[in-house]
Amino acid sequence: MEKCMLSCFILLLSLLFSHSIAKTHYHDFVVQKTPVKRLCKTHDIITVNGMFPGPTLEVNNGDTLVVNVKNQAEYNVTIHWHGVRQIRTGWADGPEFVTQCPIRPGGSYTYRFTIQGQEGTLWWHAHSSWLRATVYGAIVIHPREDSSYPFTKPEREAPILLGEWWDANPIDVVRQATKTGAAPNTSDAFTINGQPGDLYKCSGKDTTIIPVAPGETNLLRFINAALNNELFVSIAGHTMTVVGADASYTKPFTTSVLMLGPGQTTDVLVTADQPPPATTSVARILLPALQGVPSTEHHNHLDYTCSCSSKPGLSIPPSLPTLPAFNDTNTATKFTTSFRSPKKVDIPSPVDENLFFTVGLGLFNCPPGKTCGGPNNTRFGASVNNISFVLPSTFSILQAHHQGVPGVFSTDFPANPPVQFDYTGNVSRSLWQPDQSTKVYKLKFGSVVQLVLQGTSIFAAENHPIHIHGYDFYILAEGFGNFDASKDTNKFNLVDPPLRNTVAVPVNGWAVIRFVADNPGVWLMHCHLDVHITWGLAMAFLVEDGVGELEALEAPPEDLPLC
Ligand SMILES: *[C@@H]1O[C@H](CO)[C@@H](O)[C@H](O)[C@H]1NC(C)=O
Ligand SMILES: *[C@@H]1O[C@H](CO)[C@@H](O)[C@H](O)[C@H]1NC(C)=O
Ligand SMILES: *[C@@H]1O[C@H](CO)[C@@H](O)[C@H](O)[C@H]1NC(C)=O
Ligand SMILES: *[C@@H]1O[C@H](CO)[C@@H](O)[C@H](O)[C@H]1NC(C)=O
Ligand SMILES: *[C@@H]1O[C@H](CO)[C@@H](O)[C@H](O)[C@H]1NC(C)=O
Ligand SMILES: *[C@@H]1O[C@H](CO)[C@@H](O)[C@H](O)[C@H]1NC(C)=O
Repeated sequence: MEKCMLSCFILLLSLLFSHSIAKTHYHDFVVQKTPVKRLCKTHDIITVNGMFPGPTLEVNNGDTLVVNVKNQAEYNVTIHWHGVRQIRTGWADGPEFVTQCPIRPGGSYTYRFTIQGQEGTLWWHAHSSWLRATVYGAIVIHPREDSSYPFTKPEREAPILLGEWWDANPIDVVRQATKTGAAPNTSDAFTINGQPGDLYKCSGKDTTIIPVAPGETNLLRFINAALNNELFVSIAGHTMTVVGADASYTKPFTTSVLMLGPGQTTDVLVTADQPPPATTSVARILLPALQGVPSTEHHNHLDYTCSCSSKPGLSIPPSLPTLPAFNDTNTATKFTTSFRSPKKVDIPSPVDENLFFTVGLGLFNCPPGKTCGGPNNTRFGASVNNISFVLPSTFSILQAHHQGVPGVFSTDFPANPPVQFDYTGNVSRSLWQPDQSTKVYKLKFGSVVQLVLQGTSIFAAENHPIHIHGYDFYILAEGFGNFDASKDTNKFNLVDPPLRNTVAVPVNGWAVIRFVADNPGVWLMHCHLDVHITWGLAMAFLVEDGVGELEALEAPPEDLPLC
C-alpha cells in the first residue's frame, strides 16, 4: 500500500511535470522608424519595438510562438524565423511573395509556429528588400524543461549578433543599385550587437561589453546577421569549443577562429582563463575583389568583470586577436569541415531525387537605349541552374499553389544545368547571361533529396552561403573545382555529417547536401548574401502534401496579408 502510494505519487508528479512542459509565448512586434546614433550622426532606422538589435525570443524546444507583427513603418515588411522548420506552418515562414504577401504599412499579421526538435540558436529577420540590415534579433532555444544541454551547464549565456551598418538608408542603397544594375555600395562598419566598436569614426564609446567572471565557462551564441559578408571571429588569447550550429548540436571541437556565412549560427563554450580584459574581433573574408574592398578588422570587447577598473576593457588597452586574411580560404575550409553530428546519423536513403544546381553570378546585357551601371554597361545578375529568380507580385507562390491560381509560377525548374561546362574554369562570355523567371522544383512528400551545389566562376568565384527555408539538411561533403560523382562520392560522410540550414559553398567549389522532403509547402532556397538574392540567386521547392492527416500544409491563417 505504502509502496503504491509512493509510485502513484511519482506518477502524478511526472504527469504534472510533463503537462507543464510546452508553453506558448505571445509577443508584439511593432515595426517602426527609430532614431539611432551611430558613426557621428543620428539615423532613422527601421526597428522592432524601437530596439536595435530587436528583442531576443527565448523558448524551450517544443514551445509555441505567437508573434503579432504590426507594421508602423513606411515600407512593406515580413518577418522570417530563420532556421525554424515550420512543420506544416509554411504560412508563417515569412519571405515576401513566396509564402505571403507583404504586411503593408499600417497592416498586421500574426505568425504562429512551434519549435519541434531544435535546440540552440536561430534568429529572426525581415525578409523584404534590405530591411533585415536593421530588423533582426536572436531566437534562443533551450532544451525541453525535462532535458538538459549535452555539456556542462554554462554559467552565463549571451547571443552575439554580427551585423553590417550603412551610413545611409539600406533601402536607398539597394534601390539606387537596382535602378542601374550596379553593385550596391558596401557597408561602412561591422557591428556586434548593433555597436560598431571603437575603431570607426566617432565610435569610441559604441562598444558591446559582455561581462564574464574569471574562471567561468560561458555559452556564446554567435549569429551572422551581416548582409553581404562571411565573417571570421576570434577572441584574443582564448580558444572556443564549438558545441552547436544552426540549432543542432555538434561533436565538440576546439578552435581559435570561427567562420560564419550570413544566416549561420555557431554556439561556443569559452572559459575565461586569461588575464582581463579580453577582446573579440571580426573580419570579412572570402570576397575576392568584387568591389575591390580591402579587409576591415573590427574589435569589440568581451570583458572580465572582476579585477578590472570601473570601466573594464575601455580603460585598459585590449589585447587584440590575430585574424586570418579576408581571403584565407584554407582556414575557412579547415573550420567548416570540422563539423560532425554528435552521434551516428541514420542517413536518409536511397536517394529519390538526384539534383545538381549551379550557383553563381552573371551579367545581363543592358536593354537597348539604356545606360547600365554594371561592368561594361551591363547589369549584375545571379542564378541557380542559369535561372535568375523573379519574385511574383500579385500572389505569393504558396497562396497561388494552395488556391490553384495559374500563371504565377511554373514547375519546370531544371534538375540539372541546362548546359554543361567547366563550371570553375574560364567560362565563355556567351554563357554569362542567365534567363529570368519564377520556376519551382516539385518534390513528392517524403522523397529523399540529394543536391549538389556547384559554385561557378562566372564573372567572379565567391563563397555562397546557401540557405533552405523549412528544412535542415546533412552536409555530406564539400570540395574545390567541379564536382565529379565518380571520385567525389567516395568522400561523402555517411556516418556523422553535420545538420545545418545554411551551407557555405566554397569559392570555386561544391557542397553536397541531403534531406527528406517531409514538410509540405513552398520553400525558398537562396544565397544569404542579400546582394546576390537581389540579383536572383534563388529558387523554390514546392513540396506536395502527403496522404496522412499530419502530412498536409495547414489552412492559411485568416489574417494572411494579400497583395
Ligand atoms: C553610394 O556611394 C556613392 C559614392 O560614395 C554616393 O555618392 C551615394 O550617395 C551612395 N548611395 C547611397 C544610397 O548612400
Ligand atoms: C589575398 O589577398 C591579397 C591581397 O589583398 C593577395 O596578396 C593574396 O595573394 C591573396 N591570397 C589568396 C590566398 O588568395
Ligand atoms: C570589359 O571590356 C574590356 C574591354 O573590352 C574587357 O577587357 C573586359 O574583360 C570586359 N569585362 C567584362 C566583365 O566583360
Ligand atoms: C579565357 O577565354 C577567353 C576566350 O574564351 C580568352 O580570350 C582568355 O584569354 C581566357 N582567359 C584565361 C585567363 O585563360
Ligand atoms: C543561360 O541561358 C541563356 C539564354 O538562354 C543562354 O544565352 C546562356 O548561354 C545560358 N548560360 C548557361 C550557363 O547555361
Ligand atoms: C508592397 O506590397 C504590395 C503587394 O502587397 C506591392 O504591390 C507593392 O509594390 C509593394 N511595394 C513596394 C514598394 O515594394
